[in-house]
Amino acid sequence: MSQIRLAHFSDPHLAPPPMKLGLADAVSKRALSRIAWRRKSKVHRPEVLAALVADVKAHAPDHIVLTGDLTNFSTHEEYDQARAWLAGLGPAGDVTVSPGNHDALIDRRAGDPLAAWADWLGDEATGPFPRVRLRGPVALINLSSAVPTALHLAQGKLGAEQIARLAQVLRETRASGLYRLVLLHHPVAEGAVSRRKSLTDALELRAVLAAEGAELVLHGHAHESLVTRIAGPDGPIPVLGVPSASAAPGGHGEAARWHELAIARTEAGFTTRVSARGATADGEFAPLGAYRLRSARR
Ligand SMILES: [Fe+2]
Ligand SMILES: [Fe+2]
Repeated sequence: MSQIRLAHFSDPHLAPPPMKLGLADAVSKRALSRIAWRRKSKVHRPEVLAALVADVKAHAPDHIVLTGDLTNFSTHEEYDQARAWLAGLGPAGDVTVSPGNHDALIDRRAGDPLAAWADWLGDEATGPFPRVRLRGPVALINLSSAVPTALHLAQGKLGAEQIARLAQVLRETRASGLYRLVLLHHPVAEGAVSRRKSLTDALELRAVLAAEGAELVLHGHAHESLVTRIAGPDGPIPVLGVPSASAAPGGHGEAARWHELAIARTEAGFTTRVSARGATADGEFAPLGAYRLRSARR
């Protein structure tokens, strides 16, 4: 297979199931987030997300890429709820999830809560990030920038070991002639979001990408459409972010949208056709425009 069609959306922030707050939660980050959710529940609408998912399914992509913030408070109830919702998107082998800061909001208790999503993180049940999936001409290189953060912070971090493994994976997949699609929750370009929301080791990540290259980087987190470019060895690397998949049109933030990415191998390298579809006031999704990215390799 020399081409593939992917759907990218992000930050669904699924409406949380009812939750009892214990005494220990009373002054916790989770309790404060719960209060924040009441404010945000007008922004994130389940019917908008349902319409987006229906629109994605109507386009029958070969693979779905979801760049994090499925949950709001990282509770076990939310992980289970998200798991059921993920299962409704299609076979787990056709859906890849990169976890977000909201998916790791509090310190992990016993075990790894992300284990509930293991089938969607990569093809191996366990193992360190990046998790890699090979689909047609594409290597899906799934990073995790989700780390528990201090109060009022929404930062992410990859860590030196994950970045070193990424360098190795980028080299190997390039040698195999694959299109390297890097996924993570946090934006990568300098100044894309405030320091409070930033990837703390973005500089180190950009250094590895500048040296090893990638054909495309996808992210979420900013809850807005972002088209940025970072330095690569064969020219700039495009970096695309999408708004929240549940953001209602006419609300505070940018309305929900998703991107269809049609990736094809050519004699000169690869082409990527990006088609954006966005939520309309009448509860449907409509085309917003399309453009083509070219990536040549020297
Ligand atoms: Fe988010
Ligand atoms: Fe986020």
